[in-house]
Parts: sequence; C-alpha cells; structure tokens
Amino acid sequence: MSAIQPGNVIVISEHECKEVLTPERVLFLTEQALADYSNGLAVNPVKLHLPLYPENNGWINSMPSWLKRQNVVGNKWINVHGDNPAKHNLPTVVGVCVLNDPATGIPYAIVDGTYVTAMRTGACAAIQAKYMGKKDAKIMTIVGAGVQGNTTMTMAGMTLPSIEEVRVMDIRPEATQRLIENAKKQYPDKKYVAYDDLAAACAGADIVFIAAHGMERVLIDTIELHKGLTVVGIGQWIIPEQRSKFDRVIFDFIDCVVHRANQAGQYTKELYGTPYTVMERSIADGEIGDVITGKAVGRANDDEIVFSFGVGMSIEDIAVAYEAYEKAMERGLGTVVNLFDVGK
Ligand SMILES: NC(=O)c1ccc[n+]([C@@H]2O[C@H](COP(=O)([O-])OP(=O)(O)OC[C@H]3O[C@@H](n4cnc5c(N)ncnc54)[C@H](O)[C@@H]3O)[C@@H](O)[C@H]2O)c1
Repeated sequence: MSAIQPGNVIVISEHECKEVLTPERVLFLTEQALADYSNGLAVNPVKLHLPLYPENNGWINSMPSWLKRQNVVGNKWINVHGDNPAKHNLPTVVGVCVLNDPATGIPYAIVDGTYVTAMRTGACAAIQAKYMGKKDAKIMTIVGAGVQGNTTMTMAGMTLPSIEEVRVMDIRPEATQRLIENAKKQYPDKKYVAYDDLAAACAGADIVFIAAHGMERVLIDTIELHKGLTVVGIGQWIIPEQRSKFDRVIFDFIDCVVHRANQAGQYTKELYGTPYTVMERSIADGEIGDVITGKAVGRANDDEIVFSFGVGMSIEDIAVAYEAYEKAMERGLGTVVNLFDVGK
C-alpha cells in the first residue's frame, strides 16, 4: 500500500529524478530486474507498439510490468521521434511512468520517464557488454553520441573497468565532442578518440555500442565483424539475413523483439512495398536475464562474434521509477495532486 492517500497522485519531475537517482543504483536495479524476470519474480508482457508514420516520423510504445520484489505495478508510455532534435529542437525520446498499487490497481505516482529511460537504457547496454563482452576488453566504440550514447558511456565506465580506449562516432561532430568532454570528467584515465567514419571507428574494437537511430539495414553490413567483437544494439536489432554473421545472438526479451521486428516489417511492407523476411524466435540463442542468472550460456570463448540487443523492458523502467518515487518521498520532493474522487 502506497503512503499516498487513494485519489491523490504524486508527480515526480525529470529534474527531481535527476536529483534522486544515482548511476550506481540504476545499474544495480536494472540488473536485479533482469535477474528477477529470469527467476519468475516479474511479469512483463510484450510492449504495445503504436506506429505514427507515414504522417509522422515516430512511434509511441505502452510498456506495463509487475515487479513482485518491490510489489509495484507500472506502465511507461514512451515515444521515439528521430527528427525531433533537428526539426523541433526537442529530444528524440520523452516518456512518462505511472505507478499503481498491485492490491487495488489505484495509481499513486506519475514519474518522468525520460531520464528514467536514458539511465536504464545505458545500464542495460552496459550490463549486456559486461556479460557478453570478451574478458579484459580494451577498446570500445559508441556510435551515436546522443542521450542514450551518453548514459551508455556513464554505465559502461562502471561495468567495463578494463577499457582503455573509447572511440566515439556521430554524424554531428559537436555531439561527439560533448560526449567525450562529459566522459573525461567521469573517467579521466581513459583515452578518447573522435571518429567521423563508422568502419574506422569499429575496426579492432572489442565492444561496439550502437546508440543511433534508424541504422537497421546498413550498420552491420558496414562494420568489419572480427573475432571477439561484441556489438550491443540499443537503437537497432539485426534482420534475419544478418544472423549468420554472428556466432551468438542474445536479446533481453526474445518474444518482444520478434513481435516488434515482424510488426515493423509488415507495416513497412504494406506502406511502401518493402520486402521483409519474417523473424523467428530461433534467431536468438537466449536472453540476457538468463545469462545473468546462469540459465543461458553467455559468450562461450574470446573468439565468438556476438550480437546483443535490448529492445527495452518495462521492468527496468518501473524498478527505476519506483526508486525515484521512494527517494522523492524520503526527501519530501514531488507534487501531490488530487486526481480522482475515490475515497470522497
Ligand atoms: N533499446 C532501448 O531500450 C532504447 C531506449 C531508448 C532509446 N532507444 C533507441 O536509441 C536510439 C537513440 O536514442 P537517443 O534518445 O539517444 O536519440 P538522440 O537523438 O539523443 O541521439 C541519437 C544520436 O545518433 C546520431 N546519429 C544519427 N544517425 C547516425 C549515424 N548514421 N551515425 C552516427 N550517429 C548517428 C545523432 O546525431 C544523435 O546524436 C533511438 O533509435 C531509440 O529508438 C532504445
């Protein structure tokens, strides 16, 4: 039972989330949520995807889950509009989380989902790199130096302590420079190199994070896939034709990736006549939660070429949003609003 009076909701802003959430706790909570899901302690259905194209270049997803450890139910409602930064001077991704009491179903908190998403996405990518990357990885590349690219840097700095060189590649040089400046403040002992060529940025790297938007069909065909490489997809999955390029493929949530890929493929085919190959569940060897709990094999040796993709799970968002709620309550932050007439 929440401490918020039924009928009231507490609104916790992005600014307040930034005040109360630490990268260390987000990393811990994200890994714990993935392990809990593997152990049957969380319920996370496939997200509902609402495409808004061709009239608009974007989509909105609805992402519910139930975390039994924390005893919280929540939903995140989140967009991805790749043209937002250039056309509207707005972020690509903005979201909102609603927390409900599992016993009554009554909502009691509305928490920003923008910072929550950025932090948990970086955490999930860094966790995948920790479990799927080869031992003692030295060079990592971040492709796409936007919001998720920056949080990936923050989190990977914690999960990959052996990294000595960080390469950053973005089509906007100013974004590349900004990420490098931020990273130097957090991890001053590493070498940072800016790239404007994708293939060069990935040549010889141990881990490549792809945090750019809409690169589905070009990226994996552009970079050289050498022994020991781990590609962590944040803004993209692979298509079935690319599967044979990898020795091992791990997703966070196989059913969700397969559903999203086939829905997107079917929709694009109907709209533009673009052919697509149906993605089967067998494309993936396992899920990252099961790798964390030891139920699935992660990387088998230092030579395997691995692709790991996190489509993004509600459990990660709701675990972090609930942390923001608890910390805000402790510190007297947030704004209480009487939203419903229940109890009157
Ligand atoms: N998997 C998840 O859970 C999850 C969560 C949130 C966002 N995302 C995805 O992450 C991606 C990035 O989101 P964001 O919020 O960081 O967006 P953003 O707009 O803040 O950053 C994207 C960056 O990619 C750069 N970019 C675009 N095309 C590029 C290219 N060809 N090569 C190199 N850089 C390029 C842009 O200049 C920009 O700096 C989106 O595709 C989004 O769908 C995934």
